[in-house]
Amino acid sequence: NAPRAIAAPLLHWYDAHARVLPWRAAPGANAPDPYRVWLSEVMLQQTQVASVIPYFETFTTRWPSFAALAAADDADVMAAWAGLGYYARARNLLACAREVAALGRLPETEAELLKLRGIGAYTGAAIAAIAFGQRAVVVDANVERVVTRLFALAEPLPGARPRIRALTDTITPDARAGDFAQAMMDLGSGICTARAPRCLLCPLRPDCDGFATGAPEAFPVKAKK
Ligand code: ADE
Repeated sequence: NAPRAIAAPLLHWYDAHARVLPWRAAPGANAPDPYRVWLSEVMLQQTQVASVIPYFETFTTRWPSFAALAAADDADVMAAWAGLGYYARARNLLACAREVAALGRLPETEAELLKLRGIGAYTGAAIAAIAFGQRAVVVDANVERVVTRLFALAEPLPGARPRIRALTDTITPDARAGDFAQAMMDLGSGICTARAPRCLLCPLRPDCDGFATGAPEAFPVKAKK
């Protein structure tokens, strides 16, 4: 498959239909706060958006910056995290806040972000793109679903992951990479859903090989157990 002009129609759709989420900058406002982007992406690693929102509000009210969180009592942070699960994430969160406080700021490149506690490939790319406007290839489960459908990728997960990453790279724009990543997530959560995708509302339908097959929900193909 040749690279295709996916970004333009997707960003046009996002400008009209982006979800309003507390870690996103208001439309037309300046770049989002890196602390809020980092905190939200760590919270969203294994937890749904709707479950994260109240925790995000609690954390940002109590600890509005890296410096404030770095100075928090471990026990207070662990107690505030209770219910989000995966407690290693809360310990990494605090360790990372202290690393960033010692550095004086959150690093802006993917390579530097990856050195921090609790920041893996997905989170490093997401923060670089969303908080700092860097071109980074952001792949989460929503993006995997959208991309395997766009390209009607027959190769099953998990073996297809390198191919999915390469395809995502081909459609990621140089400008607005953060909006592009979040548009892919919003499309995956609201339109290109696992079951019964709403293709008639999709801005990418004319470009979608999966739609053309007549059975877009067959993607991503999963390896037989
Ligand atoms: N899931 C993970 N990060 C997200 C974001 N920035 N917006 C929406 N869903 C997400």
